[in-house]
Amino acid sequence: MRTYHNYIAGSWTPSVSGRTFENRNPANHDEVIGLFQESTTDDVDAAIDAAATAYATWRLVPAPKRAELLLAAAARLVEQKETFARDMTREMGKVLEETRGDVQEAIDMTQFMAGEGRRQYGQTVPSELRDKFAMSVRQPLGVCAMITPWNFPMAIPSWKIAPALVCGNTVVFKPATLTPLSAVNFVKVLEEVGVPPGVVNLVTGGPDIGTRMTTHDDVKVVSFTGSTAVGRLVNQNAASGFKKVHLEMGGKNVIIIMDDAQLELAVEGCLWGGFGTTGQRCTAASRVVVHEKVHDAFLKEFAARTAALRVGDGLDAATQVGPSVSEAQLQTVMKYVEIGKSEGARLVTGGHRLDTGAHARGWFHEPTIFADVSPTMRIAREEIFGPVVSVMRCSSLDEAIATGNDVAYGLSASIYTRDINKAFQAMRDMYTGIFYVNAPTIGAEVHLPFGGTKATGNGHREAGTAALDVFSEWKSIYVDFSGRLQRAQIDT
Ligand code: UN1
Repeated sequence: MRTYHNYIAGSWTPSVSGRTFENRNPANHDEVIGLFQESTTDDVDAAIDAAATAYATWRLVPAPKRAELLLAAAARLVEQKETFARDMTREMGKVLEETRGDVQEAIDMTQFMAGEGRRQYGQTVPSELRDKFAMSVRQPLGVCAMITPWNFPMAIPSWKIAPALVCGNTVVFKPATLTPLSAVNFVKVLEEVGVPPGVVNLVTGGPDIGTRMTTHDDVKVVSFTGSTAVGRLVNQNAASGFKKVHLEMGGKNVIIIMDDAQLELAVEGCLWGGFGTTGQRCTAASRVVVHEKVHDAFLKEFAARTAALRVGDGLDAATQVGPSVSEAQLQTVMKYVEIGKSEGARLVTGGHRLDTGAHARGWFHEPTIFADVSPTMRIAREEIFGPVVSVMRCSSLDEAIATGNDVAYGLSASIYTRDINKAFQAMRDMYTGIFYVNAPTIGAEVHLPFGGTKATGNGHREAGTAALDVFSEWKSIYVDFSGRLQRAQIDT
């Protein structure tokens, strides 16, 4: 059994607790993937000290030089993509094709942010006074704490770590306890390409260490992706120290299907958006609002295609839907299936745990569709994070948009239509951070802003150049070369 360590100040070290936790395969819970450090707040303090020390020199490394390390890291990720994808499927269950995509997203982001080493553009503006120069530059903030989820175990850490580093910050990184191996793989790559000791630190463990990271005086930025309930705590913890907080939380994303849509395309989109990653994406299409004229035809085809999805071990090339990530997550799915039934929704397909034969040792559940769902039901409002889709009817675009917006979250939405006017109206009126036309709610690319409105986020975006706004702050600089006192707003 392999034991993995924390990475602090450039060395792989055990926790001072002397304790470890197990990482198990959700497709076969008899398989232990490794033992990881059950860290304490003392370990976190050591990691933050290392990051604070390293910041003094890292911030002065020219950004293009910092970027060279990112480019080298991206190249190593390319080389090890298959190994890392297999490790990821074993530790969190999504199918190999998707874990390859996860590593690819980390490659894309690391390359994109390497490019920012030669940009990070500021402004130069004319001064209102003679012989005076005015400009703005981006400055790093210091130690950044990163708390990441298990559903994109390499992509999401890269969304945070790559922009933080290119801007000149240092990092303390706590991955989800369900996916520490992908975190170790990513940090090892950064070590191998020569990121200096202390610039990136990895600490594994539970909520206590997260609390420490969000309250420690030396942490200047907290970037969190996870549930809305935990995000609220992170925000509260960080508030009194005036830390900059970036939050990326829940979703209850809708696909709207109008009566002029290409139905076959819409069915494909709902299958991928609803059941890709076993529905465990914050962008998952967990709601579908269908025009009444095409509702029955759509539902028939969607149900038939859903019932035919092959559920199993993600390492098997024939599998289309992997397990839930953990027993607790499976229990949540099963609980919501019961809630849906008791609310009077119609179970169209699925609805059961799979626990015999090839499924006996994993946390598997049938892909599930409820129809005749009303927008007030809990299954239409609450994030389930599993393979459960709620289908609702509408009689107009306005009604579909109203239903679409009538949830606490605002991450992603989409419309299937061949009418450009309807597409643009929905694009304008859906109050979400991401919108798709004739595509499902998942599939964001790394060079545009990623994030959501309402209870999904707190106004920041990651990915694209928007990420630089989280990991840097502006300094405005005025250089007066007139040799005399010039008073702004007074002298001419
Ligand atoms: C998430 O669900 O937490 O757009 C991230 C997407 C992926 C990222 C999802 N590129 O679905």
